[in-house]
Formats: sequence, structure tokens, C-alpha cells
Amino acid sequence: MKRAFKAAAVVLVFALGLIQLFQIDKTNPEIKESETIDSVVAVPPDVKIILGKACNDCHTNNTRYPWYSYIQPNGWWLRSHVEDGRRHLNLSIFATYDAKKRSKKLEEICDEVRSGEMPLPSYTWIHRDAALSTGERDAICDWANKAAAASTPQ
Ligand code: HEC
Repeated sequence: MKRAFKAAAVVLVFALGLIQLFQIDKTNPEIKESETIDSVVAVPPDVKIILGKACNDCHTNNTRYPWYSYIQPNGWWLRSHVEDGRRHLNLSIFATYDAKKRSKKLEEICDEVRSGEMPLPSYTWIHRDAALSTGERDAICDWANKAAAASTPQ
């Protein structure tokens, strides 16, 4: 029994070592100035700062990967959040969305922030400064709702 336990531990350590060979791709897609949200929606400096610390890692092509993204399976999990996040909302290619999609995404930004679903709790748990205050939520909502109304097709 003891021997089987030891063998299992050896296999586990070996497997953990082996998966370290499968590192994630950390290259960020190229950002074109003309495709970013800034080229179609005015983003005030205070909102830009909030988005930068709380959203950009998953919702732009400007992701900063932390040291623990080199440790698997953590890196895989992190990478899937980035891919999933970009697929749903990518501020770096926001200008390529049509008018209807833009205003819908802007409305969703406020909804997600108000409901506390964004930023993801697993993110704010580590990035403490990304946990938004009521004032920061209000700032995002004020901006996003006005911008949504402004970009609604007439
Ligand atoms: C750690 C990564 C991460 C961070 C940080 C993050 N998001 Fe997300 N976001 C996701 C993922 C993954 C999804 C898609 C799955 C889901 O809805 O839970 C998503 C979905 C969304 C959606 C929904 C879009 C849709 O099509 O339904 C919006 C809007 C959004 N995020 C806004 C934000 C805003 C605003 C912030 C910052 C305040 C933020 N997110 C921070 C990962 C993240």
C-alpha cells in the first residue's frame, strides 16, 4: 500500500514537470491605432485609467502576462480567460465592430461592472487594485451609457 502511494506521488510529480514544457503563447496581436476604441469613442482619462488596471489584460491586445503564467496548468487557465475575454469584447479592435454592436458592448460594460461580474473575481483576488470602488463603477457606467447612446444608429 505504501509502495503504491509512493509510485503515485512519483507519477504526479513527473506529470507536473512534463506539463511545464507546454508553455502558452504570450505574443500579443498587433494593435492598429485606427481599430482601437479611441478612434471611435472618446474615453476620458479617468475612465482610461480604470479600464487599464481592471480590464485591459483580458479585453485588449495589450495583455501583461504575470510570472505565474509560466507555471502550468495555471498559464493555460489564464490564457483561456484572455482568449475568451477578447472574443467577447476586444477594445483594441472596437472600431471594427458595427454601430449596433458597439452600443450593445458599451451597455454590457456597465451591466457587467454594476453586477460585479467584471472584472472576474479570480482576477481581482490577485490584482487588488482592479477591485472597483463604487465611484469607479459609476465613472465607467456614466461614460459607457452616454457613449452607447451616442453610437446608437439613428
Ligand atoms: C481575467 C480576465 C478578465 C478581466 C480582468 C475582465 N474580463 Fe470581462 N470577460 C472576461 C471573460 C472570460 C468574458 C467572457 C465570459 C463571461 O462573460 O464570463 C468576459 C466578458 C465580458 C463582457 C461581456 C461581453 C459579452 O459579449 O457578453 C463584458 C462587457 C466585459 N467582460 C467587460 C469587462 C470590463 C468592463 C472589465 C473591467 C472592469 C472586465 N471585463 C475585466 C474576462 C475578463
